[in-house]
Amino acid sequence: MTIIANRGTTAPTDTPHEIERYPLFDRMVHWGVALTFTYLLLSGMALAYPRLAWLQTWLGGGQTVRAAHPWVGVVFTVGVVLMIVQWARQMRFEPTDREWVHRMRAYTRTGHSGVDVGRYNAGQKGYFWFVVVFSLILFVTGIPLWYPWMLSSGWNQAARLIHHASYLAMLAGFIIHVYMSTVMLPGTMSAMTTGKVTRGWAAWHHPRWLREKEGAGE
Ligand code: HEM
Repeated sequence: MTIIANRGTTAPTDTPHEIERYPLFDRMVHWGVALTFTYLLLSGMALAYPRLAWLQTWLGGGQTVRAAHPWVGVVFTVGVVLMIVQWARQMRFEPTDREWVHRMRAYTRTGHSGVDVGRYNAGQKGYFWFVVVFSLILFVTGIPLWYPWMLSSGWNQAARLIHHASYLAMLAGFIIHVYMSTVMLPGTMSAMTTGKVTRGWAAWHHPRWLREKEGAGE
């Protein structure tokens, strides 16, 4: 397929025929992670900031929130482990990723890097590993907060600080991820809803991935 230059900021979405980007299981894991993350985000805010304690009434009451937060954290972590099993191989960095990083400014302006990107660009790979690292930090530091008698109060304070800092980092990453998937890059959401994207979207954002799929007869 010829890639036609497009001076706009969006992918051409009028090409017929969609191709599969995510099978049902991948989407279920992603939305399971998104749902549990949203609960953790809100219940974490309710527990951490007295001014936001009113959120607890929405989430089942103070005692429920305190009891549910760590268990939902366990489910979230299991989801992230499944994401690692599904995607880690495809998220390995490769030499063309360096080129993508050099063109990141152009990418944030136009939504297009001009690099022959495969299934994921360097930004997506970076976000994936960021989620993996910070989710594991949140899990490990969450355990002593769940069972405070395990460690001395000094270590507990350190765990609380790291847990909170990681939570803020994940919040920032989440806002950027949602903005990019919905507003900034039209045509992307269908990848995680119907599991399909248009060939125009794929040619624009992931041309090498599209060639590989077409080469495999899709
Ligand atoms: C609820 C809001 C969310 C929306 C609307 C959303 C949307 C999406 C979409 C459309 C994709 C496919 C992108 C593509 O294939 O090009 C994606 C991928 C991904 N999502 Fe989400 N997502 C959300 C929440 C989350 C959360 C909470 C996490 C993890 C904490 C997460 C982690 C990922 C990862 C690692 C990928 C693969 C790499 C990437 O495309 O960035 N997502 N998401």
